[in-house]
Amino acid sequence: MAILVTGGAGYIGSHTCVELLEAGYEVIVLDNFSNSVPEALNRVKDITGKSVKVYELDLLDRIGMEAIFEDNEIEAVVHFAGLKAVGESVAEPLRYYHNNITGTLILTETMQKFGVKKLVFSSSATVYGTAETVPLTEDTPLGATNPYGWSKLMIEQILRDLYVSDKGWGIALLRYFNPIGAHKSGRIGEDPNGIPNNLVPYIAQVAVGKRPHLNVFGNDYSTKDGTGVRDYIHVVDLAKGHIKALEKVATSPGVDAYNLGTGNGYSVLEIIAAFEKASGKTIPYQIVDRRPGDIAVSFADPQKAKKELGWSAELGLEEMCEDTWRWQSQNENGYKE
Ligand code: WQD
Repeated sequence: MAILVTGGAGYIGSHTCVELLEAGYEVIVLDNFSNSVPEALNRVKDITGKSVKVYELDLLDRIGMEAIFEDNEIEAVVHFAGLKAVGESVAEPLRYYHNNITGTLILTETMQKFGVKKLVFSSSATVYGTAETVPLTEDTPLGATNPYGWSKLMIEQILRDLYVSDKGWGIALLRYFNPIGAHKSGRIGEDPNGIPNNLVPYIAQVAVGKRPHLNVFGNDYSTKDGTGVRDYIHVVDLAKGHIKALEKVATSPGVDAYNLGTGNGYSVLEIIAAFEKASGKTIPYQIVDRRPGDIAVSFADPQKAKKELGWSAELGLEEMCEDTWRWQSQNENGYKE
């Protein structure tokens, strides 16, 4: 029996494939490589000594999707595949809703047709919208501020309704905070297309000399040093959370949301300092205007995942930065030679 990982060649997907293989699972990857490259999966094989079956397929290809389920004994699905750039989603809402929501509908309709009812879904803390009552619990009121966030929230609702219609489903909705870091081998990591939207990959590119300086989006927030505070979580801790969620949905029907965060918040300036320490590089930066849509503070209360999944983050900020730097310095152009 195999685990189907959609978007398995992506940043979090590839790290989760490593953990799945090392936990003894058989892994099948479905990816359209729109925001990833097959090389990531070659590296997964380097790290684990195990290969994965790969289907280059778009989620919207129902015939291709059904063929995967026809040709393989699939036990459960970990669903990462989706468009995820907040700014891009504002410019192209229909593309985001079609890809993320229709793609998930085709996946779950196919799962239903083949009697596969165990699903771990890649959601996001972005479903908490502008809520600033920290720490954020899974009961914090939901809302979104952009089509990307709304697509995640709508998919959560679709999956809740699916469970109500058929109590045989076991579904975990994993709300990621801010994933950073890389596998300690330095062989896989975050490899954004073009200019990184997110803080740490941008800092890493400054450190390796690809970018001249970092723009800090505002230092007038009501935080410890005026810059934005977020809950950064090591991508390997995040990947391990998926293994725990898979174990839960495999044994107990239901639909539950879980915050996957550390419960700690760090400011932009604290991240810069930590990365300088880890890399030995100076990160030049300038303070610029706030980025529209940003909130001041976001960090998780991760108690529910600890209690119900037996999972909590173990790696600290130092390792997150050291592991990011190892990946970036060993792969200055990411997976591109
Ligand atoms: C972190 C902090 C910025 C870049 C986003 C998505 C969210 C999720 C994770 C998918 C903020 C500041 C950033 C820069 C900066 N993605 N910053 N200069 O915005 O918390 O979350 O990624 O699920 O949906 O919204 O992460 O890394 O973009 O920003 O000063 O060049 O760094 O203002 O305070 P964010 P981020």
